[in-house]
Amino acid sequence: VKKSDVVQVILGTQYLQAPKNITGSAFAPTNIALCKYWGKRDQELNLPVTPSLSISLGKKGANATITVSDATHDEIILNDQLVNTDVPFSKRLISFLNLFRLSGTLAFTICITSNIPIAAGLASSAAGFASIVKALNGLYGWQLDTSSLSILARLGSGSASRSLYQGFVEWHKGVRKDGMDSFSEAIREIWPEFCIGLLIVSDKEKGVSSREAMQRTVATSALYSAWPQKVTTDLADIKIAIAEKDFNLLGKTAESNALTMHATLLSAWPPVNYAISETIQAMQKIWQLRNNGLEIYFTQDAGPNLKLLFLQKDLATIQTHFPTAEILQPFA
Ligand code: PMV
Repeated sequence: VKKSDVVQVILGTQYLQAPKNITGSAFAPTNIALCKYWGKRDQELNLPVTPSLSISLGKKGANATITVSDATHDEIILNDQLVNTDVPFSKRLISFLNLFRLSGTLAFTICITSNIPIAAGLASSAAGFASIVKALNGLYGWQLDTSSLSILARLGSGSASRSLYQGFVEWHKGVRKDGMDSFSEAIREIWPEFCIGLLIVSDKEKGVSSREAMQRTVATSALYSAWPQKVTTDLADIKIAIAEKDFNLLGKTAESNALTMHATLLSAWPPVNYAISETIQAMQKIWQLRNNGLEIYFTQDAGPNLKLLFLQKDLATIQTHFPTAEILQPFA
């Protein structure tokens, strides 16, 4: 099944019709997975091996404005800077936009502004693709429901399927070959005390993309066969933790889930290690603080930086131990 087949099914009679408006604009938050998406069962459609669960970061995210232009080719503006259309970032974006137009018939000006710290390894593609799909929905006047928008965003980047909602979000893995049952849904629970601290230990770009690392892990890690079962258990525990506001159960499960994901990466060949020495030092500090009774946990994605998980009551203490961490309150 090709991406264009999925777009055709979702848009029905609206497929490849002219935009009803001149411009479309939308915001989408970025998200951090507490139970990770790691491994695809379909590379083309970004269909996951397992379900996953994330928390969206409120006002941290991307705003996309897409305007029909009379230029001969697309123009991409990222944080007020014109981006060369030959770089991989632009090529990926343009090939995504091509799914929604007859080739060469329309040019777009795409302005993306992001307030996500660029270096944070904060799945900026998640907010980016989700905001683009929402902007296209406005531009074309499709009036799609959120599940359909989630499926379209997934075609851009897997984790983008979760950025259509705020709060806790579950991405259903689905079983269908065309992925029509693989979309995200919000978990309607709010947890105002829930805090996240972005702990940036390095702003260098990652050496191995998550796409490449996932593929390598699935193909070569002897530990990968244990991953789906681990996700089943962790997902159930995190849902209980959210429903019962059991922060220690949530923190413990999220941290263990991230460490297990990284264990599968270390056991891939060639091995992938996203941690640097500062990452390990920060982990040891967190474990030490926890041994001393502080309720602090972390999660880590495809990069060296950590995301601290804690409750509002410990904010001042966390700030004294991690003065550089940027504090986010997803439900504020
Ligand atoms: O959606 P991608 O291809 O950027 O992959 C995201 C992978 C992780 O961030 C490591 C995990 C996740 O669930 O977001």
